Amino acid sequence: MFSNRLPDDFTPNFLGDLVDKSGLPQIDLTESNPTKCDFKSYSYFNLKDFNFSNIFPYHPNPQGNKIARESLANYLTHQGRITQAENIFFTSGTSEAYSFIFKLLANPMDKFMVPIPSYPLLEYLLQLESNIPVFYKLDPNQGWKIDLDYFTQLLLSNDIKGLIYVSPNNPTGNYLNYDEFVELEKIFTTANKNIPIIIDEVFYEYARGVKPNYFSSKNTLIFRLGGLSKLCGLPQLKISWIILEGPRELVDQAKIRLEFIADTFLSVNIPIQIHLPKLLTVANKFQDEVSIRTNNNYQRLKKILLNLAQEKKISILDPQGGWYGIIEIHGMQPYFDVKICWELYQKHKILIHPGDFYNFFSGNFLVFSLLIQEDQFDKAISLLTSLLYELL
Ligand SMILES: Cc1ncc(COP(=O)(O)O)c(C=O)c1O
Repeated sequence: MFSNRLPDDFTPNFLGDLVDKSGLPQIDLTESNPTKCDFKSYSYFNLKDFNFSNIFPYHPNPQGNKIARESLANYLTHQGRITQAENIFFTSGTSEAYSFIFKLLANPMDKFMVPIPSYPLLEYLLQLESNIPVFYKLDPNQGWKIDLDYFTQLLLSNDIKGLIYVSPNNPTGNYLNYDEFVELEKIFTTANKNIPIIIDEVFYEYARGVKPNYFSSKNTLIFRLGGLSKLCGLPQLKISWIILEGPRELVDQAKIRLEFIADTFLSVNIPIQIHLPKLLTVANKFQDEVSIRTNNNYQRLKKILLNLAQEKKISILDPQGGWYGIIEIHGMQPYFDVKICWELYQKHKILIHPGDFYNFFSGNFLVFSLLIQEDQFDKAISLLTSLLYELL
C-alpha cells in the first residue's frame, strides 16, 4: 500500500535502541538544537514583540515578502556575500528548499552527487523525491577536499542532475573554496556536462578562523541554501532560503519554475517574514555567543585529550567551521567507534555519535556537538577520555 520512497525499515538505530532501553541520556553530546543549550543571547531577539496585527490583508508572494528579501540581501551583502533580493526564494526550512530544487531539476530516479561524510538527511531528502544519491568522497588526508579522481569516475559513469556540497560541511567543517570550485567546473567542462551546484551554507557564519573568499560563477547555476535555524538559532520559526546565481538566462528560467513550485505550497508564514528584518539586526549576538562556546569547548577538548593525542592514539580534528567536534581513533578494528559509543552510554549515559552516523566511509571517528554548556562538555569529555584509556 505504501510508497517505496520511504525506508523499508523503521526500527531505531542502535543508539535510539539504547536510549529506548536504558533511559534518557545524562549528557547528550549529539545535541545540535541550540534552543536546548542555554544561550543567553536569545533575549536580544525580543520574540515577545512578535504580533499578528499586521498580517491583514493576506498578500501571498511565492518568492517571499519583498521587504524581507531585501533585508536578507542587505544582511548577506554586508557580510561580503553579494546577494540580490530578486534571486531569493523563501522556504519553510532548508529541507523544503532541497525538495523544491529536486522538483525543479529532476525526474523520478534521477541522480544527485552527495558528499560523504556529511549531513545524513541528504539521502532521505532525495529518496522522498524519488531521486537517487551517488556518493562522492571527501578525503580525510587532504583536509576533507573532494577526492577528484573518484568524483570524475562517478561523474563519467552516471547521468548526474546536480551536485550537493555542504559548506561548511556537517560535521567535518570544510568550506567549498574557490580553487576547488574551479576544479569542479573544469571537470564538468571536460566531461561536457552542465551540472547545477547546490551549496548548503546553513553553518556559513560559524567559521573557526578566516572565512574563505566568497565566489560566484558565470557558467554554473548555483543554489545557495541558508536559514534562520542556524543563522539565529531559531529552527522553530521555520524560515529558510534559496539564493540563485549563475548565467542570467538559466537563473531566469529556474526562477519561473521555482515560482510555480513555491506558489503551489505557499508554505512560509507571514509573521516570520514581517519580523525577519528585525531579527537580522541582532543575529550577530547569537552568532558571537555560539562562536565563543564552540571555540571554548574545542580548546577544552584539545586540553583534555592532549596526552592521548601526543601518544598518537587519537587525533583531534580541526574543523574550519560549524558546530561539531571530531576525534579520530587510530589503529583499531572497524566499528570500534560504535563500541565506544555503546560503552559510554552503558557506563555513563553519555550520548555521542559514531562516524557511521555521518557516513564516514573508513576509520573510527567520534562526532559531537560543541554547543553543549561548558561544564557538561568538560564532564562528558573527561569520562570519554577515561574510557578511551581503558580500551586503547
Ligand atoms: C547541513 C544542514 N543542512 C540543513 C539542515 C536543516 O536546516 P533546517 O532546520 O533549516 O531545515 C541542517 C540541520 O542540522 C544541516 O545540518
